[in-house]
Amino acid sequence: MVENCNEQTLRPLIIGHRGAAGEAPENTLASFELAVRQGADAVELDVHLTADGELVVCHDHTVNRTTDGQGRIDQMTVEQIKRLDAGRWYDERFRGERIPLLSEVFAALPANVMINVEVKCGYSDKLSGRLAELLAGFGRLETTVVSSFSHKVLYRLKQREPAIRVGLLYVADLVRHSVLAETAGMDVYSLHPQYQAIGPEDVAEAQRHGLRVYPFTINEPEHLRQAVQAGCSGIITDFPARLKAMLG
Ligand code: G3P
Ligand code: CA
Repeated sequence: MVENCNEQTLRPLIIGHRGAAGEAPENTLASFELAVRQGADAVELDVHLTADGELVVCHDHTVNRTTDGQGRIDQMTVEQIKRLDAGRWYDERFRGERIPLLSEVFAALPANVMINVEVKCGYSDKLSGRLAELLAGFGRLETTVVSSFSHKVLYRLKQREPAIRVGLLYVADLVRHSVLAETAGMDVYSLHPQYQAIGPEDVAEAQRHGLRVYPFTINEPEHLRQAVQAGCSGIITDFPARLKAMLG
């Protein structure tokens, strides 16, 4: 098994998707903290750049679905975004949760919890500058992997900030998964395939090329078991507790 599975147990990393999105409002501190309490080794989250150049944690381009407000994140300031409730839409118990800044997540989570930052916005020098500043400032360069479906965004990030670890997100059903990394034009840390597209031979083939394999988003017990048996380096799930119970 390649490095960066759990070193003590050699089992796959439990990566909480948007925290523990199956049991708490996605991409909130409550969700990330729950994932960690449930035994997650890592959390996955999504980031956007605000109008005033800050990185905030939210999946969609707008705040409409996951808060009590309306608007495009890239047209809102942090001050406007912080007024919104990001928990009540999910359950009254989470009233008062806010959209977190990436810096707040870095500060809140234990240093040994890996963070998978998925970039949802386009490339800009502001994005690479702020990300690099936060990773360096919080000493998070070696415990963070930055992923995106836009490999071009990752390529440009990597050109500006070579120390950033990058992971390729994709949904293609490839014949040879390592080919993605070989042709990406940059040093790739991990592959993040849609789970339906990857089996044991694919995982082994990618790992032989030094790539970690973190498929997304696996929730059903049967599919979780298959991913464990396939030897994945980590598994992205909305239910970290479910995977933890399976792994023991
Ligand atoms: O990073 C894995 C997964 O989160 C990618 O899809 O839409 O859930 O961000 P999405
Ligand atoms: Ca995501």
